[in-house]
Amino acid sequence: MLSKRAEALKPSPTLAISAKEKALKAKGLDIAGFGAGEPDFDTPEHIKQAAIDAINKNFTRYTPASGMDELKDAVIEKFKRDNNLTYKREEIIISCGGKHALFNLFEALFQENDEVLVPSPYWVSYPPMIELTGAKPVIIETDEKEDYQVTPQLLKRHINKNTKAIILNYPSNPVGSVYYKENLEAIGKIAVENNLYIISDEIYEKITYDEYVHTSIASFDNAFKERTIICHGVSKTYAMTGWRIGFAAGPGHIIKAMANIQSQSTSNPTSVSQMAAIAALNGPQDFIPMMVREFKNRKDYLVKELLTIEGVTCYNPRGAFYVFPNFNSIIGKRYKDRVIDSSTSWTEVLLEDFHTAVVPGIEFGKEGYIRLSFATSMEVIKKGVERIKQAVNELK
Ligand SMILES: Cc1ncc(COP(=O)(O)O)c(C=O)c1O
Repeated sequence: MLSKRAEALKPSPTLAISAKEKALKAKGLDIAGFGAGEPDFDTPEHIKQAAIDAINKNFTRYTPASGMDELKDAVIEKFKRDNNLTYKREEIIISCGGKHALFNLFEALFQENDEVLVPSPYWVSYPPMIELTGAKPVIIETDEKEDYQVTPQLLKRHINKNTKAIILNYPSNPVGSVYYKENLEAIGKIAVENNLYIISDEIYEKITYDEYVHTSIASFDNAFKERTIICHGVSKTYAMTGWRIGFAAGPGHIIKAMANIQSQSTSNPTSVSQMAAIAALNGPQDFIPMMVREFKNRKDYLVKELLTIEGVTCYNPRGAFYVFPNFNSIIGKRYKDRVIDSSTSWTEVLLEDFHTAVVPGIEFGKEGYIRLSFATSMEVIKKGVERIKQAVNELK
């Protein structure tokens, strides 16, 4: 018999949709895929070369379980350069992806009776990862009309004596929303007053649009930094999703607990990938603006086209590579003999009848919405948008 924890756990829906999309493509179907949560660019040459060199030099043995000092130093430099934040080596951990850093952190901090605040729409993995620890995710509903902000009033309403932490993800997956500076400051103050940890998932930090400049909540005030754990990684910034290198920065005793968990579970992240990550963080950064420029063109096109569909609204992302249009106006309509009664049935019709793969909003906590990743070619985006428009036109 399986453990109750394992029985209750569903696989990641976004990974499941990407897998379905790939399987249909392998059967020869022409699928317009908007499922992927990963840049469609190749990892830059100098990063790949660092890994090749590492293999050739037989750099293929265990490293320290919490990551190599050279990579920790590169991460420290990154935080200094980009965020004006100073960390010591013992305040940094290198994990097997940003997801793994979050997992270690949740294991280190949470247990039964703890409540963890999760603003919705949220990244699909936060609630199940919190539940695995025995703690309870408490969802804070945020509103499209208010730019998906967590306001001080909203936050205070959800805090009680069991509240242990709040998770902030900015730019966010699935919306691409960010917090206004005044709200970040207010959230930090409330966290200090209520002795909450702030989990700041900044994995999309470098993928931002227009005039938005990312500011980490930890950089506002030392009192905020002392209770903030930044979770980050190289996956999205350097098109390195498969290499599995993430990192976290925060108070030494928490990082140490995470390192203990890591040393008893995965041990070190792949040695060769760590060498590649050093090259990524210390090497030329010109790949990033090139990728972001391309994402911006796609985003602008996609948002403009989605807004031409009657009844559809769509937040214009400030960062990341997703749009999260609101299709509530079509809920209750029919496609042939099928009633579209949820974002899930809408995505099923889009995939099965219009060969367009998107993720249902309900997986991110918002019914009636769908998530489209624009980490795919302009050609696929154009084809997919036309199919979605055609699908809407055929609803009765
Ligand atoms: C919000 C958010 N955090 C963390 C991650 C983890 O990324 P990785 O484990 O590839 O570093 C993702 C990936 O989709 C994400 O969207």
